[in-house]
Amino acid sequence: MTDDIRQTLIERALAVRRWAYAPYSHYHVGAALLAASGRIYDGINVENAAYGSSICAERTALVKAVSEGERQFEALAVVTDNGGSPCGSCRQMLAEFGLDLRVLLLNGEGAVVRETTLRDLLPDAFTPASLT
Ligand code: THU
Repeated sequence: MTDDIRQTLIERALAVRRWAYAPYSHYHVGAALLAASGRIYDGINVENAAYGSSICAERTALVKAVSEGERQFEALAVVTDNGGSPCGSCRQMLAEFGLDLRVLLLNGEGAVVRETTLRDLLPDAFTPASLT
């Protein structure tokens, strides 16, 4: 990932966060996922009055991307107020497509508070290889 692409990825995650629909938690999340194709798919959390039906920003971005035919991903940027880390369900969904995913966690000011990989966030992951 070049510095330019990294910056674009971060800007997309920051920009999309304004559309987060979080009337219950008030925890607004923006995510941007860079596919191997070079395209970036962004997403926000979409909450629901039936709380359990809500979806996280990371999974919104992922399902948008996979729905467009993407299967390989290079990097994910996530923006929250406090630099929060992806939840377990998001880690698991992302792991389906590879553990080498680079993950950038940003706070509300746009500062990268942590840079890691999905492999580090989800040790001993259950992946498609686990089924063979
Ligand atoms: N949320 C995300 O969008 N991503 C995460 O990885 C953690 C949690 C959302 C879900 C819910 O709308 C709100 O943040 C509070 O949990």
